[in-house]
Amino acid sequence: MKRALVTGANRGIGLEVVRQLLVREYEVFLTCRNPQKGEQVLDFLGDSTGQLHIIELDVSEEELVNKAARRFAERYDRLDVLVNNAGVLLDRSESILSVSEADLNETWNINVLGALRVTRAFLPVLRNSEDARVINVSSLAGQLSSMGVWAPAYSLSKTALNAVTCILANELSSDGIAVNAVSPGWIKTDMGGLDAPGTLEDGADTIVWLAEEAPSSLVGQFLRDRKSVPW
Ligand SMILES: NC(=O)c1ccc[n+]([C@@H]2O[C@H](COP(=O)([O-])OP(=O)(O)OC[C@H]3O[C@@H](n4cnc5c(N)ncnc54)[C@H](OP(=O)(O)O)[C@@H]3O)[C@@H](O)[C@H]2O)c1
Repeated sequence: MKRALVTGANRGIGLEVVRQLLVREYEVFLTCRNPQKGEQVLDFLGDSTGQLHIIELDVSEEELVNKAARRFAERYDRLDVLVNNAGVLLDRSESILSVSEADLNETWNINVLGALRVTRAFLPVLRNSEDARVINVSSLAGQLSSMGVWAPAYSLSKTALNAVTCILANELSSDGIAVNAVSPGWIKTDMGGLDAPGTLEDGADTIVWLAEEAPSSLVGQFLRDRKSVPW
């Protein structure tokens, strides 16, 4: 049974990724900063043939992340798929000229450093997989070739997450660990809002495809709808 860990998975796209991986008979670690919120989603997940574990994991603090990774490694020797999905959007209606340093820092800490520190902490167990995949949930808001003025803290955090993806992909390719970034599309979630055209299934599609079906030779790419797009 393949093992996958998803961050920020108590709602939205992360929760749907968990659901789809359970249907595909994965052993899934649904991680969230408040485990009680994780318990509340069991109905959504329904019956499935996979195995579910709920783990407390706040990606914003190095010590908490390292503790969660140590606990994981005490019980499990291997992790096959890591989905760095946790993210915040704090500055939807802000300008780069006025967005607060507090919002810039918090967004950076969760969206960029969060993904990096979780990847680093879980690297020993990822290295024990024969086909490890790290999937960073990014956004077209971070695409330099189409950069506008919307949500500057969020946008630059996703550009930086894309850079983290490239550097990790280069660093880890000799270990056989495939690292890629995904834009899930504009999806109806708490973050995406009610006007978003995409369903949860749409948002999870490329992430689950990368986890399960994409060739392991696919590395260091920014993907949307299962296809590479410009950075
Ligand atoms: N929805 C879209 O249209 C869209 C578009 C492009 C990219 N994305 C990306 O897709 C990912 C998921 O977005 P979503 O739409 O599903 O958002 P969402 O519904 O707002 O869910 C965000 C998740 O991240 C978690 N989170 C936030 N800070 C965290 C932390 N410090 N530690 C652990 N978990 C934390 C939240 O947990 P709490 O419940 O505890 O707050 C929640 O589970 C994000 O990376 C987002 O940037 C979304």
